[in-house]
Amino acid sequence: MDYSTKISERMWNQPDKGELEAERENTFIDDIVQKAHIEKELLSNLDGIETVFDGGAGCGRFSILLAKQGLKVTHFDISKPMIDKAHELAAREGVLDNITFVQGALEDLSAYADRSFDLVISFDSPISYTYPNQEKTISELVRIARKRIMISVSSRLGALPYAANPIQKNQFILDKNSKDGWVQWCLSNRERAVSEFSFSKEYTMKTYETGLFEDVEAVKKAYERGEAPWCISYHFMPEELKGILEKNGVKNVELAGPGAFARTLPNEILVKIVNDPKQKKDFLEFCHMYDSNPYVCGMGKDNLFAKGEI
Ligand SMILES: C[S@@+](CC[C@H](N)C(=O)[O-])C[C@H]1O[C@@H](n2cnc3c(N)ncnc32)[C@H](O)[C@@H]1O
Repeated sequence: MDYSTKISERMWNQPDKGELEAERENTFIDDIVQKAHIEKELLSNLDGIETVFDGGAGCGRFSILLAKQGLKVTHFDISKPMIDKAHELAAREGVLDNITFVQGALEDLSAYADRSFDLVISFDSPISYTYPNQEKTISELVRIARKRIMISVSSRLGALPYAANPIQKNQFILDKNSKDGWVQWCLSNRERAVSEFSFSKEYTMKTYETGLFEDVEAVKKAYERGEAPWCISYHFMPEELKGILEKNGVKNVELAGPGAFARTLPNEILVKIVNDPKQKKDFLEFCHMYDSNPYVCGMGKDNLFAKGEI
């Protein structure tokens, strides 16, 4: 078994994962923007769609949304806690009849025949976590799609500012009093992160060239020591992602960079906007339009969105 599968299995199967992921949009503003972008794209591209495969479906943010539209959804994920949480939320929404839950790894989709699903989706980086098999994973997802595919993967240009800004995530904290461990870590770590930071051209260039932020060997060693390190994540360039999709026969590929506009605003302004329902609605609509402009897609916050026809 590849390290990617083993690392994802251990990391995403930590017992609190489902609960934490389900709370992301109450915690970080970049998640609100990203999920709103995907939701808008999904709901406006459902013509002729009856069946959906959601790869790395997590706690059901999109599988449940689509099940509520009356579609038959296969919710596929490597993590039992995520599936359990999704099951709980789907039951609460009354859509269990429309969802089939499958625990599995995206690295092996051999159980599914060619063109099994009208729409195939995979959002917020599951494909990137299959490194070094990310290209094969995309080709397999295209293989099982009949009409349309929509994915979002880790973005190299979008995530590179993290390499030069250890407090990047602080910009998107929605509530400084949140009990979320990551929020509290970002806040308490801020001063130390800034004082210890020095710009490394070597690290930034290496990341730019390889698409990998992690030291792959160090992550593997941490895994072997019994730890649960964050998955090795492959970050795509926009033209690279478009090329892979087209090579696999996907037509009319369009890219977007959810979060490109939001990242230009400081935290205080973002919090103000998001806490006012009218401004929030208008802002998310504007973000969707701005972030869909192909000239800014690389600067999406940390995801690169792509859609295309089979
Ligand atoms: C950031 S969450 C995104 C969840 C959901 N797609 C969303 O957008 O809300 C990433 C999900 O990918 C799943 N995942 C990670 N590696 C995977 C793999 N190799 N195969 C299947 N699922 C995987 C994780 O368990 C997790 O639920």
